[in-house]
Amino acid sequence: MTKLGVNIDHVATVREARKIDIPDPVYAAVLAELAGADGITVHLRGDRRHIKERDVELLSAFIKTRLNIEMATTGEMFDIACRVKPFSVTLVPEKKEEVTTEGGLDVILHQSTLKTLIKDYQSHGIKVSIFVDPDHEQIKRCIKLNTDIIEINTGRYAEAESENERKDELDKIINAAKLAARSGLKVAAGHGLNYRNVKPIASIPEIEELNIGHAIIARAIFVGLERAVREMKDLIKKEK
Ligand code: PXP
Repeated sequence: MTKLGVNIDHVATVREARKIDIPDPVYAAVLAELAGADGITVHLRGDRRHIKERDVELLSAFIKTRLNIEMATTGEMFDIACRVKPFSVTLVPEKKEEVTTEGGLDVILHQSTLKTLIKDYQSHGIKVSIFVDPDHEQIKRCIKLNTDIIEINTGRYAEAESENERKDELDKIINAAKLAARSGLKVAAGHGLNYRNVKPIASIPEIEELNIGHAIIARAIFVGLERAVREMKDLIKKEK
């Protein structure tokens, strides 16, 4: 069964719209877990536009599943992760001006930084996931670097403007997942997934976990968070 990591960043986005203390992402994490989430994901950005250090500290203490923190490859983030001790970190590229993560990390360009960083995280007992585009050369480099997990970027698949383009992107994701799984990496996927486009991704046998945020929080506004999580769990379960 494909696992569901629920990304709760946008609960904090609503809180930060008023810069007060509600809604609390910690409440969201508890409700998501009660509804069947297999993990909680948050992105601690350098600019702290939504999730803050206080959130990751409390989430780490409160949640009963697994905390995954998406973060840039900076020393500041390394220090925070070593203090908070999440189950895993997902290393992502980060641009100040972007609305959301725009693509996978360029593993080839950053291989020397990543080599040391991955070892350092692992020596602190924190699993490392790399957010990567479904590109053979990038995946091969991830395998060489000995990361624990890759999270395949499904953004291009989600944004495809024609059926042909979507099929091409899906094929790339399938091939990337196969290559990584053959080498023993755990394979996750995420970005831009929603209730309409998730099924073909959830049915890829090598993909063990999906990280989904915006679509679940958006639906939760109308149907409640527990139902939104359950409906997504149901969709990704049926395809296996
Ligand atoms: N995975 C990664 C690495 C991300 O950066 C994000 C967005 O924070 C997600 C998954 C979730 O994407 P979405 O909010 O589009 O579901």
